[in-house]
Amino acid sequence: MTLACGVDVGGTKILGGVVDEDGSIVEELRVESPATDAEAIEKAIEHLVTELKSRHEIAAVGVGAAGYIDKARSTVRFAPNIAWRDVSLKADLEALVDLPVVVENDANAAAWGEFTFGAGHDVDDLLLVTVGTGIGGGIVHDGELLRGAFGIGAEIGHMRVVPDGILCGCGNRGCFEQYASGSALVRDARAAARAGSLLAQGLLDLAGGDPDQITGPLITEAARAGDPFATEQLAGLGRWLGEGIASLTAVLDPAVVVLGGGVSEAGDLLITPVRAAFQSQLTGRGHRPVLEIRKARLGNRAGLIGAADLARR
Ligand code: BGC
Ligand code: NA
Ligand code: ZN
Repeated sequence: MTLACGVDVGGTKILGGVVDEDGSIVEELRVESPATDAEAIEKAIEHLVTELKSRHEIAAVGVGAAGYIDKARSTVRFAPNIAWRDVSLKADLEALVDLPVVVENDANAAAWGEFTFGAGHDVDDLLLVTVGTGIGGGIVHDGELLRGAFGIGAEIGHMRVVPDGILCGCGNRGCFEQYASGSALVRDARAAARAGSLLAQGLLDLAGGDPDQITGPLITEAARAGDPFATEQLAGLGRWLGEGIASLTAVLDPAVVVLGGGVSEAGDLLITPVRAAFQSQLTGRGHRPVLEIRKARLGNRAGLIGAADLARR
């Protein structure tokens, strides 16, 4: 059985793993992402792969990276939340780890993982939406990953949803990910706490009185414990997501939408408002099949599992 190494490079963490042909993880490692330092990211990936390589017979490395990857799957042209500008990631890593490397967008890799081994295994057309530091999109159409003419399709996080809206890491204003990502969730909750909102008091107490200690997982924890403000914050995020997915469905008409990324760990607290907003906004509703919105089955490992599988092909 051929083993491949998958690496998922996001805005806050780097996750690496050895993956077999059935999509099962043999060993997994995780480090913080030095997102502001392009060279340090390559070093971190090198260390991670070298360590896994010392213990397993690895044939190839697949890297899912949170940025715009060229059609040749080798260069990161740009990344809104990471300090990558025209980085030849494939060549650099091949020199560092002495294995063939394939680079793909992180959300595309996750879509491939869920399509091949997870929540989309039973369909040919799916849209994957990852909700984390940013919002990522991955589209499988007719059983193939849709990459666009230049490799940079499916960048759904940067659709404009609010004219003249909040400034985005990509340089534009009003992008989807400024309203419906984990970063947006945390930004708004911290702002409410800083402004002394009594609504945010429960959350602030959980954060030890320091607004900066409010994180996504903390908001989910508070909502699970019944905190009304945290619940409403997740529901508000869910509305943005559901409406965005309705617009995307108008274009793509997928069989299923898979919701992944760290924030999807909130489960029903997020997915129920997503489904409600989607159903109230979908064009032609009542006269078309209502597609299923499912939670990612591979969780936050979809990207690394998908990247490993792409590297093996
Ligand atoms: C980036 C995408 C990435 C997504 C999720 C967005 O900001 O533009 O390339 O897939 O974040 O990490
Ligand atoms: Na993508
Ligand atoms: Zn943007």
